[in-house]
Amino acid sequence: MKKIVILTGAGISAESGIQTFRGAGGLWNGYNVMEVASPEGWAKNPALVLNFYNLRRADAAKAKPNQAHIALSKLEKKFNTLIITQNIDNLHEQGGSSHIMHLHGKLSEVKSVANDNIVYDIGDKPIQLGDTAEDGQQLRPNVVWFGEMVPMIAAAIEETATADIFIIIGTSLAVYPAASLLHYVPSSTPVYLIDPNEPDIYNPPTNFSFIQQKATEGVPMLVNKLLNKRPI
Ligand code: OAD
Repeated sequence: MKKIVILTGAGISAESGIQTFRGAGGLWNGYNVMEVASPEGWAKNPALVLNFYNLRRADAAKAKPNQAHIALSKLEKKFNTLIITQNIDNLHEQGGSSHIMHLHGKLSEVKSVANDNIVYDIGDKPIQLGDTAEDGQQLRPNVVWFGEMVPMIAAAIEETATADIFIIIGTSLAVYPAASLLHYVPSSTPVYLIDPNEPDIYNPPTNFSFIQQKATEGVPMLVNKLLNKRPI
């Protein structure tokens, strides 16, 4: 079975009603990203950070997977398929995909501020200051903030380096190390990028196709072609 690795970003969930990061004038749902998604922001105002993620969790709980999430799950019929997502929503899971790596963590999870291994799934519930883990420490979202390590990046690189087909959907490729995955794709591997806007790619791969479409249009089309082996 050939292996397809797919890197997704906020753009794939845009048509499910979840706002992307860039393109809103530096604001993210009205918040300064660094105030709500960095260790400095957390140190300054943890209540604001918790409230921000409580709102995002509630929004995500209402969102439904779109035709792009659903189409990707169909690739599993014919390919060994892995989705590496930067998104913290669970729309790939809801869309039926079974192999998903959440590079930047999950909205539905919280962890102890003192121990990355004490993690709880809280679904769509809010957390507040004073809610503690079993070690007595404050709970925080189990998401990767700016300036923090991305624990799963080594595994993601290993998977990318053995991809027979690589697909990128709805990411500005502005955030590292996620964006660097593209440089680990083998040179003979075809790379498809679906996005209504062309991201700025330094040194694009040799075998590269840009599909300038929204995810709900471009993804089902590409999936059909890959499943039917028609030339793209
Ligand atoms: P961005 O907001 O940077 O980029 C979203 C991309 O989606 C852009 O390239 C848009 O053109 C594209 N887009 C918009 N609508 C689309 C649609 N309907 N279909 C397809 N594409 C569409 O989001 P990311 O690249 O995901 O990190 O951002 C990367 C990381 O930065 C996030 O994971 C987050 C953020 O800060 C952390 O929180 C650590």
